[in-house]
Amino acid sequence: MPRILTGITPSGTLHIGNYFGAMRPAIELQAGGDAYYFIADYHSMTAITDAKERLAFTRGIALDWLACGLDPAKAVFWRQSDIHEVCELTWLLGTLTPMGLLERAHSYKDKVAKGISPNFGLFAYPVLMAADILLFDTNVVPVGRDQKQHLEMTRDMAIKFNQTYGEGTLVVPEERIAEAVSAIPGLDGQKMSKSYGNTIEIFGDEKALRKKIMGIVMDSRTPQEPKPDADRNLAIQLLRLFAPKDVAIDFENRLRAGGLGYGDLKKALFEHCWNFFAPYRAKRAELAANPDYVEQVLRAGALRARAVAEKTMARARRACGLRLI
Ligand code: ADP
Ligand code: TRP
Repeated sequence: MPRILTGITPSGTLHIGNYFGAMRPAIELQAGGDAYYFIADYHSMTAITDAKERLAFTRGIALDWLACGLDPAKAVFWRQSDIHEVCELTWLLGTLTPMGLLERAHSYKDKVAKGISPNFGLFAYPVLMAADILLFDTNVVPVGRDQKQHLEMTRDMAIKFNQTYGEGTLVVPEERIAEAVSAIPGLDGQKMSKSYGNTIEIFGDEKALRKKIMGIVMDSRTPQEPKPDADRNLAIQLLRLFAPKDVAIDFENRLRAGGLGYGDLKKALFEHCWNFFAPYRAKRAELAANPDYVEQVLRAGALRARAVAEKTMARARRACGLRLI
């Protein structure tokens, strides 16, 4: 059975891009495999430095995943910083990772281009991510397209480690990109991302969500005008995610033919989006009512994750001559 692993960084509130690009595919996979999911709180340190905020995001994201269907009886679910071995493996991998490889990382280059002053942690981010994956003998990593390069780097690091210190020491993983949902567009039509301020939150407040959706900017064509480009309309693209297929097709056809106003289309989008997440909202409120629940789940998950991590680390230390046995 292939081992599946993915991580989510607690550096903001989750949006529907995260849901369709990362959470839903991961949750669907928990039934069929050996699923390992963690909250990447060490990774969040490259983005936020407020301790209280980190704790709150970590708890919030754990609740989000559990509410959306992550089942701790099926999947191993833990907090990255509970498994210190990940830092040790980062060092081992880092000593074999060429500077040039890290300098070519898109996420690093993008952040530097945006004026973020880079530190060692930001530069080493792909090495920590590789350690996350390799520590747990991962076979498959389901992620969005933006993480593809990190996965390629992980494979390079695993191959180099094995060539240097012994074939078979680390498992070389494969990537699995959620093709159908490679980039969920945001409210402005660009890729949805918390760094662009164009998100639709999964668990946002009703009034705020309505305001955001009704505020989507459309063109100035009148409702009556036919719109041959209806398939590229942002509200239609988003509606396809939430509404049954025939409903989304019907709206698209009405928009194409003319006669459907943008206001009515956006209202429908809001309703479908709000109703889509209703059962998850109820579940989240129920879980949040027990303040200890998340901590208990994450600690139990860390115990299971550590059992794997210790074995991989022992193998890696032995292979590179840090230990005799
Ligand atoms: P953000 O861009 O908001 O900072 P993250 O980088 O934290 O999002 O992404 C977390 C996960 O969600 C990743 O696996 C990423 O590929 C996925 N993801 C984020 N935004 C989108 C999107 N717009 N469409 C599809 N997947 C996305
Ligand atoms: N870098 C990923 C993101 O920003 C999160 C992450 C950290 C991750 N470690 C991982 C994803 C390991 C998959 C596997 O979305």
